[in-house]
Amino acid sequence: MSIKIEPFKNNIGASIVCDLKSIKVDGVEKTKEALNNYGFVCFRNQNLDPGKYLEFAKLLGKIKDYPMLKDLEGYKGITVVERKAEDKGKSYGEGWHTDSSYLDKTPRYTCLMGKIVEKDQGQTLFASQFASYEALDQKTKEKIESLVGIFSSAGPISETRVEREAERGTGKAKDFISEHPIVKTVKNKKTLYLSPGHTIAIKNLSNEDSKNLLKFLFNHQTKKEFQTSFSWEKNSIVVWDNHSIIHSATPFVGRRLMHRIILDA
Ligand SMILES: [Fe+2]
Repeated sequence: MSIKIEPFKNNIGASIVCDLKSIKVDGVEKTKEALNNYGFVCFRNQNLDPGKYLEFAKLLGKIKDYPMLKDLEGYKGITVVERKAEDKGKSYGEGWHTDSSYLDKTPRYTCLMGKIVEKDQGQTLFASQFASYEALDQKTKEKIESLVGIFSSAGPISETRVEREAERGTGKAKDFISEHPIVKTVKNKKTLYLSPGHTIAIKNLSNEDSKNLLKFLFNHQTKKEFQTSFSWEKNSIVVWDNHSIIHSATPFVGRRLMHRIILDA
């Protein structure tokens, strides 16, 4: 099977041209390698039914439960991420974050597939945290090297879940709080691991120091120069590495429905 990997500008994200229905072990290895190098990968025109989509995801990692929403009926591990035409608030996931960073064991990869997408119905913005870490000055790198962040499911991004939780909530959701080092290493390269939608404080700093440092780092890690945007179409699949990429949905009007899978790897 042929597989062609085309990195985007500044090596932030890559397009992979292949047919995921017939992806083999070497294609999966190349996909993982591309995730390590570029943070996220996208595949266009993949006409996979939910069963085949799950099969593909399982080649990349272990399906992880999402605590907030019920699964698609009959397909354990697929969460329906939907915006309805009549929805008033922000789109689901609108605002910079990295998925489920409030869990003790955070999901490594997220897969998102466009199922109902009309023309010009929004994008996902991705910001490389390899690039953002690299661009920090040496003094800041040393200052943050051993710092630990406090991550909460009740952070600012939680407001974008309200409508879907009312309809499809698991009833098991609570306010999850977790702590993680804010500098991670992914394949020998350091990344900044912060989620503006979830990170509420830096441990062992005064309130003021924590607030100021977070404000500086959130602003830094979301700069345009670290970003690539992806425009959604039906049957597009994007996979990202939550340890090296942060992302944000963009606003749009109308209905859009996606299938999401989170993975441990
Ligand atoms: Fe997300």
